[in-house]
Amino acid sequence: GEDITAFASLMSSPSTSIITTITPSESSSGVKPVQADELDGFNQDWMNKYKGHSQCVLKPKTTQELADVMKYCYEKRIAVVPQGGNTGLVGGSVPVEDEVIISTANLNSIREFDEVSGTLVCDAGCILEVLDNHIAPKGYMMPLDLGAKGSCHIGGNVATNAGGLRFLRYGSLHGNVLGLEVVLPNGEILDGLSTLRKDNTGFDLKQLFIGSEGSIGIITGVSIVTPRRPSAQNVAVFALDSFEAVQNVFGKVKSHCGEILSAFEFFDQDAFELVQGHATAGVKDPFEARHPFYVLIETSGSNKDHDDEKLSGLLEELMEGGSITDGVMAQDETQVGSLWALRESIPEAAGKYGSVYKYDLSMPIPKMNELVLDMRARFEERGVIGKDKTIKTVVGYGHIGDGNLHINIVADRYTPETEALIEPYIYEWTAKQNGSISAEHGLGVMKAEKIGYTKSKTSVAYMQKVKDLFDPKRILNPNKYLPAQRS
Ligand code: FAD
Ligand code: MLT
Ligand code: ZN
Repeated sequence: GEDITAFASLMSSPSTSIITTITPSESSSGVKPVQADELDGFNQDWMNKYKGHSQCVLKPKTTQELADVMKYCYEKRIAVVPQGGNTGLVGGSVPVEDEVIISTANLNSIREFDEVSGTLVCDAGCILEVLDNHIAPKGYMMPLDLGAKGSCHIGGNVATNAGGLRFLRYGSLHGNVLGLEVVLPNGEILDGLSTLRKDNTGFDLKQLFIGSEGSIGIITGVSIVTPRRPSAQNVAVFALDSFEAVQNVFGKVKSHCGEILSAFEFFDQDAFELVQGHATAGVKDPFEARHPFYVLIETSGSNKDHDDEKLSGLLEELMEGGSITDGVMAQDETQVGSLWALRESIPEAAGKYGSVYKYDLSMPIPKMNELVLDMRARFEERGVIGKDKTIKTVVGYGHIGDGNLHINIVADRYTPETEALIEPYIYEWTAKQNGSISAEHGLGVMKAEKIGYTKSKTSVAYMQKVKDLFDPKRILNPNKYLPAQRS
């Protein structure tokens, strides 16, 4: 019908070599493409760093529709980019050239929730926050939380193996995801939506798709185990003099309230200044002076009096022992939100200040601040850092409890020259610490060629074989995730 004609004609003048020209009569999909004026939002990434030129975005409403589209694209060797909430930070969710974008936005039904086991089964396009709100009245919560929760899709979370703010307590999606429904590049549906906690029958294939960034299949359904929602939650922010103090306090917090600890985040003064200067509501400075470092801790338990007592005892002990210079504890829900906003608003504030080069690294905790200082010194030596210079600021923050540092280098704009000031230096530095060049954001287009800094040649060679097994025509997310194969 009309939809098919529109789909096919939109794809009839592609420039990517992998896409073959098709005629209207060849299309077998009934999925309606989005209108031209909506295309920009799908072609542009969250940071405004990566931009594709796709003329076709499809939003299938069912798994079968999506499978039909893939079957068609596979036969015609048409390149495809799966897209969820488009909040990814490595350019994985937008086309490199003019690949067809398959959005999961219309796959947004909650299929079932078991109130006894806490198992949720839903479509991949459900927004994380919508899922959390759905299960909250039933006494459960999603096992992951991130600043992008209002836009990111659970399918995108699984595809990137997103970590986030509560990883420390609830662990990885590799543990929490119980089953997946996936459309393979050739249009086959891999139906693995199990709700079983234990199942040792054969290879655990779903694990291959968790963190595969849309390189070997499109996730259409997710089965995930959710923990009980804590009845008591506390948040405190401490101000500290040094990064040594941050590490010292991490040890003390773990020994004092390890069993109720649900987040331990840090941010440095430059990150804090960014939020104070560029973020919107709810981010007022709760302290009288500025401090070199801040940590945010959250506890989640079942006995409010017990947790309150523990946290105020800890605060007192840390203040008296001189481990921290100041500290505030949220007194109500609104204050919980305001304290969390100090940390969660950093990415948004950085984006408002300039063009952000984001590095998401795993490394031994004592090394984290050394790298931030080293990067600042590197820019100072070259005279390129300052309010009106190429590099406006360098900020450090992250999930210290997971050994995950975020360095954001805010520049006046994205240029190859600025990138060359940072890379490969920062990757080499990380590799020397046996760290990871992607702790949680993935590889996308930004780091597809950099995987060798963290993974061995043998590992990458086997990854390429996995890619070829599922996607021999290499139509899914080309130029991303793995190094290009040169013949
Ligand atoms: P997209 O951005 O649309 O896609 C991401 C990748 O997954 C792409 O390669 C895409 O092709 C693929 N993909 C998407 N959906 C599917 C699917 N259904 N099947 C197969 N492949 C698919 N990340 C963290 O890990 N921790 C954080 O704390 C965190 N905080 C963030 C805060 C902010 C403000 C922002 C903007 C981002 C943050 N992120 C974080 C990064 C991002 O939100 C996560 O990676 C998120 O999981 C991406 O979900 P999405 O639906 O937006 O996916
Ligand atoms: C975060 O922890 O805030 C996220 O990973 C996003 C980011 O670093 O920009
Ligand atoms: Zn993060």
